[in-house]
Amino acid sequence: MQLSNKPETEICRTDIPQMLEISDVVQEGKSQKSFFFRRPMECRPGQFIMVWLPGVDEKPMAVSYWRKNEFAFTSQAIGRFTNALDNLKKNDKLGIRGPYGNSFSLKDDACVVAGGIGISSVSTLIGKLKNPLVIYGARSRQHLIYLKRFSGKNMILATDDGSYGRKGFTTGILDEALSSNSKIKVVYTCGPEIMMKKVFDICKLHDIECEASVERMMKCSFGICGACMVNDRIVCADGPVFNASQLSKLSEFGRFARIKTGRKVTLKEYHGLHR
Ligand SMILES: Cc1cc2nc3c(=O)[nH]c(=O)nc-3n(C[C@H](O)[C@H](O)[C@H](O)COP(=O)(O)OP(=O)(O)OC[C@H]3O[C@@H](n4cnc5c(N)ncnc54)[C@H](O)[C@@H]3O)c2cc1C
Ligand code: FES
Repeated sequence: MQLSNKPETEICRTDIPQMLEISDVVQEGKSQKSFFFRRPMECRPGQFIMVWLPGVDEKPMAVSYWRKNEFAFTSQAIGRFTNALDNLKKNDKLGIRGPYGNSFSLKDDACVVAGGIGISSVSTLIGKLKNPLVIYGARSRQHLIYLKRFSGKNMILATDDGSYGRKGFTTGILDEALSSNSKIKVVYTCGPEIMMKKVFDICKLHDIECEASVERMMKCSFGICGACMVNDRIVCADGPVFNASQLSKLSEFGRFARIKTGRKVTLKEYHGLHR
């Protein structure tokens, strides 16, 4: 985290958790909350921080808002750690270190495809791009967040159950968009890995550049422990954002991940286990 006024190219980070008071908690959706901190944070779209709740766990979270003297992350309550976060209130404290990882490139004529809580990793990217097409899907209406924040954006919304926007998956909409809109030159994506693998395959078919933010279980977050490896790439240090040429060399992308013990399991098993 940056506590001085250095330019964006000279991002500083801290590897020691800073115990910061939560300045605000915003309910974004039924099970999604943003936790704000009144501190400057210099980072780039796609980077993440490590959030430590003493006695519970420490996990990576994308930086979902940053403004002068303020930043936030958005958590979806789905497991032990995120359910514990869900109980926190204004003035409670969390240990924050980072920011970590690389970032999305910022190219014109872009399409952003987000699935579920993956929207938090691309939210600051959407703010920085020049009029991107945003395709954003979730299971149902109650899982769609930031709708007010992005009103006025060129956005196609979708839900699996048809409760809001178009019924169906973001990938079908992307395929249509790339078939009919020859202006799109690059696709940025974050969401369930099964979705991102499909996005990658569709981009390959249309010969369009693609960058995906890959999620893996993390411990150290700065390239030491090896917990987050995908093939020979270290997600926390080489990623989390990988381009199409890198993704094409990762045979584990969209297929396998490692659990806490280091054992390689299928993605389906990975998401079915508490990590
Ligand atoms: C770089 C990076 C950025 C991240 N940014 C965010 C963020 O901005 N907001 C956020 O909420 N999380 C984010 N995560 C994920 C976060 O770090 C936690 O792993 C996740 O929230 C689950 O933690 P938990 O302990 O609550 O749940 P766990 O106990 O690990 O999991 C509980 C259950 O939830 C399900 N589950 C867990 N993860 C997934 C998944 N990805 N897809 C589908 N089902 C799943 C499984 O069924 C599992 O049994 C990020 C991860 C990475 C690597
Ligand atoms: S989390 Fe330790 S190397 Fe990535």
